[in-house]
Amino acid sequence: MEQYDWRTLRRVQPIEKYTIDELQMGAQEFWASPHEVREGAFKTLRRERPIAYFDLPAAEFAATAGFDIGRPYVYLLSKYKDIVDASRQPDLFCSGFGATSPIDLPSEMREYFGSMIEMDDPKHKRLRDIVNKAFTVRQVRQIEEYVDSAAREIINTIGPKGEVDFVTECSSRLPLKVICDMMGVPESQYDFVFNSSNTILGLGDPEYTENPDDPMPQLMAAAMGLTQLATELAEARLKEPTDDLLSALVHAEVDGQRLAPYELGSFFILLLVAGNETTRNAISWGLKALTEYPDQKKDWAENFDEVQRHAVEEIIRYASPVMFMRRTATRDGVVLGGQEFKEGDKFLLYYISGNRDEDVFEDPYNLNLRREPNNHIAFGGPGPHFCLGANLARQEIKVMFKDLFQFLPDIEMVGDADHLQSNFINGIKHLTAKFTPIKGAA
Ligand code: HEM
Repeated sequence: MEQYDWRTLRRVQPIEKYTIDELQMGAQEFWASPHEVREGAFKTLRRERPIAYFDLPAAEFAATAGFDIGRPYVYLLSKYKDIVDASRQPDLFCSGFGATSPIDLPSEMREYFGSMIEMDDPKHKRLRDIVNKAFTVRQVRQIEEYVDSAAREIINTIGPKGEVDFVTECSSRLPLKVICDMMGVPESQYDFVFNSSNTILGLGDPEYTENPDDPMPQLMAAAMGLTQLATELAEARLKEPTDDLLSALVHAEVDGQRLAPYELGSFFILLLVAGNETTRNAISWGLKALTEYPDQKKDWAENFDEVQRHAVEEIIRYASPVMFMRRTATRDGVVLGGQEFKEGDKFLLYYISGNRDEDVFEDPYNLNLRREPNNHIAFGGPGPHFCLGANLARQEIKVMFKDLFQFLPDIEMVGDADHLQSNFINGIKHLTAKFTPIKGAA
């Protein structure tokens, strides 16, 4: 009698609370809306204004702060096809003016946050090539046992408790440990990295923002702290190379030159933040969804190997942890969705909306762990910036659920998930999970 199961009543369904002209998606307040209302807004946009103009309220702030934010408006892309078309044409829709923020950031901030995600080829490719090898399917396969033992260690810690904050104690721990180990960050610094990356990607959410009226100093302090950590670790590797990614960065030459300290710092921040803020949300959304679709959880747990490849992709589509990336038009007259745009026009590619596009996905709001085909764009559209860590993320998600099914088989979410207030990350900050405690080691 699945329709009477209380768990299934919480499944996400979009709520179209605003008319198209009432939508204020440039405003931070909009992103405090419940998840269902945000989903409803994208649904309205896809149907009525697939390429939507929004003023950036940040324009006023930036004028007083005294830097050039570029055009004071953005176009929000909500349809799958437009997002894919923009991603495919990096020469017309570039990343070099900023990819993670709707406003152009001042140069001192771009030094910290820029790195390759905010660059175009050829420099982007040269940087990406330094670390690419570590993220290939082959390389990631070789670390599966290690990822598995890291997941079991986490389960051993939470296993006897019976009830935990799944985000802080489980889903965030695996990606954090894996990327820190890959980068050569010692365990004593994990919490520092965790808190700094919460600040960087969670800024704007009251829980992570000390002074909402002036959040920039906190952001810069987090970035500078991570850069300092990178510098200290890098010095040690200069003297004595190791086999971690930081060592590869320290010894790499781009255009015949070593990376400058700020380039090294921003690369380090990108890898750490991208490596741990994203996958954790996929795992958290995964547990929430599996609780709400108990029949599918059962199917996956009973037929793990058969279902896993599709299940992992579906969880990533469903979660869409990175909601948008930005592109900027490189010349006048570029065409998207049949409209012409001007050089400097900015586009927010809302992957989460593309992943709910009714023209591409049947029953897009439903979890379907056997969905096929599932050409989601949660890792970005096709193009040079397609997520570097996609293989690693897939593996972490697979291993985490395999171990949870094996050692904590009745684990489920209780109560509601606590969502992050952000226009960028579809985050879950806290989620209570319950299970029958285990005594022995996983
Ligand atoms: C479910 C987890 C993840 C999601 C949803 C995700 C999503 C994304 C997205 C949307 C992009 C931008 C694509 C574009 O601009 O076209 C991206 C880029 C990137 N991701 Fe991920 N990511 C995930 C996990 C990871 C992990 C584990 C790492 C490990 C380090 C990582 C590292 C990166 C890097 C370095 C880039 C920049 C690539 C470039 O500019 O060439 N990501 N990711």
